[in-house]
Amino acid sequence: MHLGVNIDHIATLRQARLTRYPDPVDAAMLCLEAGADGITAHLREDRRHIQDSDMQRLAALAEQGVLHLNMEMAATNEMVAIACRLKPQACCLVPEKREELTTEGGLDVLAHQLRLASVVDKLSAAGCRVSMFIDPDEAQVRASHAIGAPVIELHTGHYANLAGAARQAELARIRQAAEVAAELGLIVHAGHGLTVDNTPAIAAIAHIEGLNIGHAIVADAVFKGLKAAVADFKAVMQR
Ligand code: PXP
Repeated sequence: MHLGVNIDHIATLRQARLTRYPDPVDAAMLCLEAGADGITAHLREDRRHIQDSDMQRLAALAEQGVLHLNMEMAATNEMVAIACRLKPQACCLVPEKREELTTEGGLDVLAHQLRLASVVDKLSAAGCRVSMFIDPDEAQVRASHAIGAPVIELHTGHYANLAGAARQAELARIRQAAEVAAELGLIVHAGHGLTVDNTPAIAAIAHIEGLNIGHAIVADAVFKGLKAAVADFKAVMQR
């Protein structure tokens, strides 16, 4: 099971003050030290967190074999050109709306098959393994396969936001979509909204080989690191 740590919100914190720190690339190295199998970063069209220079530095490390980079991106001409130039090992196509707080739903591959097929072709020709971020819906899984994407990432955001029987029903949909994908020979990943509490049920699904997790890791890191950070300041003030 591959853990891709999404470092976007390290950059969110930096951009809130337009400082140089915290540096998402330094964070990426720490994530690897802690056992992450790869780094995921989303270069959004509005550049609200990860910047072009961040993605360039991550891609340089990927090229040197230091890390496995999964670039999340909208299927726009601008992003395709950047990905074809930087050649991360993996690209995950996501829908993007300017006003959203985070990626809200899966990509509608079914409705945009022709255009997405050409994006998959271009990225594949550049050597990137392409993943489609989709809702756990059989038709979307089949459409992703039909356009030649080797990987799907199932959107777990709805599962994460639900409770009780509704959550169980969504979990069953995710399981079913993973099953169909595996039968088609697709590699199955999942992600969005995963926390320490709700991850085990997703990680237990047989065909899911990788998870991409960001927000909860950064949120947990605040509480795991806050005491040490305050103690450091007290120490330098007293010196
Ligand atoms: N996978 C995809 C495709 C995403 O867009 C995101 C959020 O950027 C994630 C995984 C990680 O979601 P979260 O930050 O909620 O863990």
